[in-house]
Amino acid sequence: MSENFMKNKILVTGGAGYIGSHTCIALHEAGYDIVVYDNLSNSSREAINRVSTLIGETIEFVEGDIRDNELLREVFALHEFFGVIHFAGLKAVGESVVKPLLYYNNNVSGTITLLEVMSEYNVKNLVFSSSATVYGDPDTLPIEESSKRSCANPYGQSKLAVEYILEDLAVSDDSWNLISLRYFNPVGAHASGQIGEDPNDIPNNLMPYVSQVAIGKLEKLSIFGNDYSTIDGTGVRDFIHVTDLAQGHVAALDYLEQQTSSEIYSNTASPIGFLPINLGTGKGTSVLELISTFSDVSGQAIPYQFASRRAGDIASCYASSEKAKNLLGWQAELSIADMCKDTWHWQSMNPNGYTMS
Ligand code: NAD
Ligand code: WQD
Repeated sequence: MSENFMKNKILVTGGAGYIGSHTCIALHEAGYDIVVYDNLSNSSREAINRVSTLIGETIEFVEGDIRDNELLREVFALHEFFGVIHFAGLKAVGESVVKPLLYYNNNVSGTITLLEVMSEYNVKNLVFSSSATVYGDPDTLPIEESSKRSCANPYGQSKLAVEYILEDLAVSDDSWNLISLRYFNPVGAHASGQIGEDPNDIPNNLMPYVSQVAIGKLEKLSIFGNDYSTIDGTGVRDFIHVTDLAQGHVAALDYLEQQTSSEIYSNTASPIGFLPINLGTGKGTSVLELISTFSDVSGQAIPYQFASRRAGDIASCYASSEKAKNLLGWQAELSIADMCKDTWHWQSMNPNGYTMS
């Protein structure tokens, strides 16, 4: 980046969260000017403070809810945004089964409110946080973007519903440019050890659970199923380093900028429309393989026991990452060992996450 060059201004909803905070750093490093909008329902101001320290600049932060039409309008009136990266959402699959209305309200109604305000202010470029969960139990592997979509829990359904809304929007008006990034299993933390994933409660996801066992906060891991038809009977997932994922967002925005530049616009009516793209490494790793690598890089034993399969889990899930490579020029760089090492660095420097005690 040349010194005086500043790229467009981006609204980052949910930018105080796990993936959002890492992406803020990547966006800043790439020269984007950002405003973070987050209601802190699953994150803390400390994450924003730490991102500010890491980038050497105070992040512009608005504490607000995406369902708050008035506040969003104030923010859009104040800034000239090129586009929005929309991370804000609730993400706990189990909780979504118990509180479906909360999930549909937050994730679907919230997104509709955001899109309405974007439309009003003629900001038509969006990068949406979708999930591999929209593929449900895939028929074939690796999973391509054209694979069938179906999912059985309210969280996944809320992501799918937003994708359908975005598709309809793109059909209705070709000035919208809507990229839906389908993340596989984001793990890891910033190399500084200053920011990372900070679950509120006992973690649901594998990597934070493993790292809390390693630090001694949890006694032992239960491995949900060792009778899948996989390499060792345990579930296989496409774990992706959050830093790689953050770079994927920069690549998506760069692509949006390029495609909507006047020269290209003049040649095509609808440069992007609705564009789903997988963000994964393309490689599957089993639960046992991940535990073994974590144990090696941390030097900690990870006690575990086998338990029955978790309801709703599938045997294997990994991405075809060809589309991201071909269209965005992006591919994941970091290994499973890097993911474990950086998770461990964050966990051991911050045994209580962002809570300082
Ligand atoms: P996160 O909970 O750490 O971050 C989400 C952020 O959104 C939080 O800071 C939260 O406070 C904020 N938020 C929630 N509802 C809001 C609202 N109504 N208004 C304003 N802010 C709100 O989660 P994450 O892991 O960083 O995930 C970011 C996005 O990526 C989510 O949409 C999630 O569904 C999606 N995603 C996550 C994963 C994953 O495994 N982490 C995988 C696929 C997709
Ligand atoms: C991975 C593997 C478990 C915990 C979830 C969401 C998905 C997406 C990413 C948001 C599985 C096993 C886990 C444990 C275990 N999030 N496991 N013991 O289920 O692939 O995806 O996060 O969009 O929507 O469903 O991730 O980390 O929970 O599980 O054995 O204590 O680890 O059975 O095989 P999952 P995960």
